[in-house]
Amino acid sequence: MKNSNIDNRDMQTLKKLKRSEEMRYFVYILTFICFFLVISVNQEVIVKSWSQEDKEIDPSEIPDEKPEGMSEEDWWQLKAKKPLPYDKGPSTIDISNYTKEIQDIYTKVYTPKCSKCHTIARAINAPYALPDEWMSYIKKMMKKPGSGINPKAAKSIYKFCVYDSEIRKKDLIAKKLAEKKQADNK
Ligand code: HEC
Repeated sequence: MKNSNIDNRDMQTLKKLKRSEEMRYFVYILTFICFFLVISVNQEVIVKSWSQEDKEIDPSEIPDEKPEGMSEEDWWQLKAKKPLPYDKGPSTIDISNYTKEIQDIYTKVYTPKCSKCHTIARAINAPYALPDEWMSYIKKMMKKPGSGINPKAAKSIYKFCVYDSEIRKKDLIAKKLAEKKQADNK
């Protein structure tokens, strides 16, 4: 009788132990899931707040001159937030029929480099089409402090812009050339 009592108790302790071990695993898994959820939710919140920060700058509050004490680099970033009409156009180019080299420039150089300060839409929809125009604009952008555009990247971007304009802005090029001719004839 005594013996079986002990056995019973032992069994119960064993069961309890087993259950507590199961519980422990359960808690581990639960903690892991919660941790994962919190991180992913937070990340979304952070990313959203970043993108909102950009949008929340009131353009009318951007001064015309660099405020005292602001670094040149910050100033150009801020200045670039002044909206231009071209910002509102499409923000991608259909490059499916472009050559492989041009496609690579588009994804690896043009898009990341030219969207650093302002929308890529600005670069895509600006009314520049002639090689000379691109040359002077890309040079201008390259020289801005903190542009992160080196001469090699600038050359590639120039190549892309000229190629892209010949396809997307054929009419504009014809118009600009005709205007040039007319001006020359005067
Ligand atoms: C260092 C920040 C910076 C980078 C990088 C940059 N831009 Fe700009 N961009 C500006 C600012 C600021 C303006 C507003 C006009 C100004 O102040 O010159 C602007 C304006 C423009 C305009 C409109 C110009 C106008 O007034 O009609 C075009 C087009 C443009 N950028 C194209 C590009 C292209 C293409 C690239 C990539 C080669 C590029 N940007 C990279 C800062 C930048």
